[in-house]
Amino acid sequence: MSNLMKAIQINRFGDRSVLELNDIEIPTPAANEVLIKVKASSINPVDWKIRAGYLQPMLNHPLPLTLGWDVAGEVVAAGDQVSHLKVGDAVYSRPDIAKNGSFAQYMTVVADEVALKPSALTWQEAAGVPLVGLTAWQSLYEIAKLEAGERVLIHGGSGAVGQFAIQLAKLRGAYVYTTTSSRNTDLVISLGADQAIDYHNEDFSELKDLDVVFDTIGGETQAKSWQTLKKGGRLVSIANSPDAATAAEHGVTPFFCFVQPNREQLEQLADLANAGKLKVNIDSEFSLADLAKAHERSETGRAQGKIIINIDA
Ligand SMILES: NC(=O)c1ccc[n+]([C@@H]2O[C@H](COP(=O)([O-])OP(=O)(O)OC[C@H]3O[C@@H](n4cnc5c(N)ncnc54)[C@H](OP(=O)(O)O)[C@@H]3O)[C@@H](O)[C@H]2O)c1
Repeated sequence: MSNLMKAIQINRFGDRSVLELNDIEIPTPAANEVLIKVKASSINPVDWKIRAGYLQPMLNHPLPLTLGWDVAGEVVAAGDQVSHLKVGDAVYSRPDIAKNGSFAQYMTVVADEVALKPSALTWQEAAGVPLVGLTAWQSLYEIAKLEAGERVLIHGGSGAVGQFAIQLAKLRGAYVYTTTSSRNTDLVISLGADQAIDYHNEDFSELKDLDVVFDTIGGETQAKSWQTLKKGGRLVSIANSPDAATAAEHGVTPFFCFVQPNREQLEQLADLANAGKLKVNIDSEFSLADLAKAHERSETGRAQGKIIINIDA
């Protein structure tokens, strides 16, 4: 194979015009890494937040940077220390966000961040799972420690994270309220939500004595959520850090989750998908060359599931 590949990179931070389709060298895997031939990737809001430079104070990315932190593809080379994967394996991952991403024909990933792709899912569906699936898993299961019978309010149920959160909360045996637009009511109910609250026309803050709020929206939505929780309740946000003083006033424990790579959790998500217990809704699909259009779709804030980038699927 030629030692060059196509990749979407940025050389400076800014609007969608900074996205460049470049020919760059195919990376070589380190001893603990695999080289993945990327079949499909997906967009997350973090892609355009990083592109715009909003996360630079936290992530300090060197440039040029290849964006994209979801991948489904095939292992084409493995470092000497890699034992659980081999050439030819179909895999998926949410790789380390500090490194180059998956909007490229090939990428290297630390093998410990890579799991076998759920065989029941297409490449596109599988590429839509890792980042949002891990976010919902870590927020609800690891941080909030959601238990069977608890009442949870999930904000943004029609968003990509929200859709996974509804499904994981139901699998845990919780009672699920979710905020959504009326146009997405059928969608969130089909995923298992017990009650959909139209955030344009209804006041979710009338809910009382909830055990957990999962906040994927932030701002005013988070501010109005404290009063819905019982004393000793938990609020986990992925949108903005909750204020500790406000949480203390309400007797609630606040958390912020920033998703981390996790192979074991990807394996458990794959088991659920293979058992038919996890649905992946695709909002739209784009080619690598049309990546700017995919960013544009995500930046509307109106997506109804995963925005997929087809690379070699
Ligand atoms: N901290 C972390 O580790 C982490 C990880 C993943 C994501 N995130 C962040 O979490 C947020 C959600 O991510 P995502 O991938 O789920 O985004 P997304 O798929 O782009 O979310 C879009 C959805 O949000 C809904 N929505 C917008 N405003 C709403 C509101 N006020 N109330 C209820 N629903 C609303 C929209 O429905 P309508 O069109 O009906 O309004 C739309 O379906 C983003 O800010 C992302 O950056 C953080």
